[in-house]
Amino acid sequence: MALPNLWRLYNLRSSPYFQATLRQGSEATPLSLFVGRQTERQRLLSAIGGSRSSRQAVAGRPGIGKTTLVQAVKADALAAGYWTSADIIPITADLTSENLIGQLLAGAFEAVLASCAHASGPAVEAAQQLVRTIRLRGGGFTVSAAGFGAGGTNTQAVSSPPGALLLDGPRALRDLLVFALEQGASGLVLHLNNLENLSEADAARAADLLRSIRDQVLLLDGLHLIVVGTADAVRLVVQSHTQVRSVFSDPVVLEPLEPNEVHQLLGARYRSLRLDPNLPVHAPAHAAVIDVLHELFRGDLRGLLKALEDGITALLGLTGDGESPEPIGLADLTLVLSLRYKLELQDHLGATLWQRLEAWGERDVQAVMTQADLVTLWGIKQPSVSQTLQQLVSAGAADVLPRRGGDPLQYLLTGATRLALG
Ligand SMILES: Nc1ncnc2c1ncn2[C@@H]1O[C@H](COP(=O)(O)OP(=O)(O)O)[C@@H](O)[C@H]1O
Ligand SMILES: [Mg+2]
Repeated sequence: MALPNLWRLYNLRSSPYFQATLRQGSEATPLSLFVGRQTERQRLLSAIGGSRSSRQAVAGRPGIGKTTLVQAVKADALAAGYWTSADIIPITADLTSENLIGQLLAGAFEAVLASCAHASGPAVEAAQQLVRTIRLRGGGFTVSAAGFGAGGTNTQAVSSPPGALLLDGPRALRDLLVFALEQGASGLVLHLNNLENLSEADAARAADLLRSIRDQVLLLDGLHLIVVGTADAVRLVVQSHTQVRSVFSDPVVLEPLEPNEVHQLLGARYRSLRLDPNLPVHAPAHAAVIDVLHELFRGDLRGLLKALEDGITALLGLTGDGESPEPIGLADLTLVLSLRYKLELQDHLGATLWQRLEAWGERDVQAVMTQADLVTLWGIKQPSVSQTLQQLVSAGAADVLPRRGGDPLQYLLTGATRLALG
């Protein structure tokens, strides 16, 4: 049974505060809702068009709009004759070096299929077999005994030593690129997302891998790679080795959207989700509320959208059916959100960590703290502080600012935590 649509009270088909990335060809989250970022979008596209192969990085805090920007750039590239897929190559915490090659190959294969549904021939089949076996193994190294071009009759799988993909992957990728170029593609654009999911050790390994496959893979003719992550992740993965850094353009660093762009973003969503085209949409939130949240979340659009969705659905539950709701005001919104986020954080983190957050909030919810400051504040030893911070950051309760030179790392409370602390 479908849930009743609370949003119809505003003349909306569904929540205008969805947090998914926009993507080419999606009905629910179309790229027509994209706003702003013209300079960055143009810069990324020009680099693709300006060379036979390119490597770029997009850096910024979680929720600021990195993934969505790259989705827009891929759509631009598609319109300019490149092959690409709206799918994103996800980076997960357990990604090994060999899997990274597998992911690149799988991404290239998806891009070829997305633009050329009937692609066939030895290069496509070889890539397909390799991708299939990688997927069967959940990203492992097993390569089908049938191997390349041996016909798909032998289904027995053999375990290749780690590194098989390191040998076969680059060749398969090169052949696939040659195929795409022969078919008239201007090139392939691949999108490697969320580098920050790698642990520091894995990021270091990924950096080593990129260096080792630089000439065989990264510099392949027709390959255009865009990697995405927080500033620190981008620095660790593509800027720690000179040989890698020198083939990447300077990262495109995303700053928060301007407040008026956030209003445009929401306005576009309200228009596109309008239920009755003859009636206006009643904006569920006052413009002033949006500005306060944008500031509170420091440009994290995902946090802002989620806060609006959480707060308004909670309040709508309280409004009687059929009443035409007033736009939500700041006092009501922060009240319901502080209750909700407090419960969520307490539940997720447990009493001890919650008390540490409270102590931080009592000091000053806006305070930027180093680990040394927190040793004093919390009265616990440095390793415990470090572990606590790791838990807080991964729970979305605290944020770490991009590292500056040799300075100690600086931490602050996220918008959701500041709401929870009331
Ligand atoms: N330029 C933009 N125009 C319209 N919506 C955007 C824009 N940038 C981000 N969004 C929306 O904000 C949310 C977070 O964006 P996302 O790209 O996922 O952030 P990030 O990848 O940096 O974590 C998504 O719902 C996305 O649709
Ligand atoms: Mg993202």
